[in-house]
Amino acid sequence: MSAFGTERVLDVRHWNDTLFSFRTTRPASLRFENGQFVMMGLEVGGKPLVRAYSIASANHEDFLEFFSIKVQNGPLTGRLQHLRPGQDILIGRKPTGTLLLSDLKPGRRLYLFGTGTGLAPFLSLVKDPEMYERFETIVLVHGVRFVSELAYGDFFTRELPADDIFGPLAQEKLIYRPTVTREDFPTQGRVTDLIESGRLWTDIGLPPLDPATDRAMICGSPAMLADLSALLDARGFEVSAHVGAAGDYVIEKAFVER
Ligand code: A2P
Repeated sequence: MSAFGTERVLDVRHWNDTLFSFRTTRPASLRFENGQFVMMGLEVGGKPLVRAYSIASANHEDFLEFFSIKVQNGPLTGRLQHLRPGQDILIGRKPTGTLLLSDLKPGRRLYLFGTGTGLAPFLSLVKDPEMYERFETIVLVHGVRFVSELAYGDFFTRELPADDIFGPLAQEKLIYRPTVTREDFPTQGRVTDLIESGRLWTDIGLPPLDPATDRAMICGSPAMLADLSALLDARGFEVSAHVGAAGDYVIEKAFVER
């Protein structure tokens, strides 16, 4: 059996010149944990051209969703950005990844730090009932360069709070904190700067990071992961060393080589 199955594009949404999302049919046999990624792409010249993509839909939904950058001459996204409903798409059969709730030790607060398309796995996780069962408060910080890159802002501020199932949970427990670095916006600055200055906590009214009570999941560029991990390590947080080893935080690279 091939490593990929063929699914159909259902819907495409362009956020701006550099970002888009799309939904596809979901293979009945595909099982995954919220937060995982899968290989996804197109058949080009009779061969699969695929990249790792975090699954942005939740594992109880009957479609798959992906959130991608557009690189004009990118081998894959140069093509993917022109997708239309009805087209075929290749989806790998083996989802994997480290952003797993099961690899976090128990705690009171969960911080989800995502920059750019590193938001994608958290879109899946905010629709996971286990996350709300395990944590009193969940703080999602989405860091981007420009306001137009704050994809899914409406989802967090309007749709999710109004959802029949997750609305009450999200309203009670989820704090959404977008931050922008290269344009005016109510919250400005890198995620790491908001932590170091303490601005994040004065804004949301919670105590600063504490490994005794707090857990984190982080997803962004390699530089962001390195800086944020160093910051967490310096505060006494221990990373989950591998899948199956519970830690204070888990990390995943946001996949952007397209
Ligand atoms: P900045 O505009 O200061 O580079 P990117 O698209 O490059 O992944 O960036 C997404 C967001 O992550 C931007 O706001 C960017 O800020 C920020 N960022 C980039 N590098 C780091 C880093 N090392 N630590 C924290 N945030 C970062």
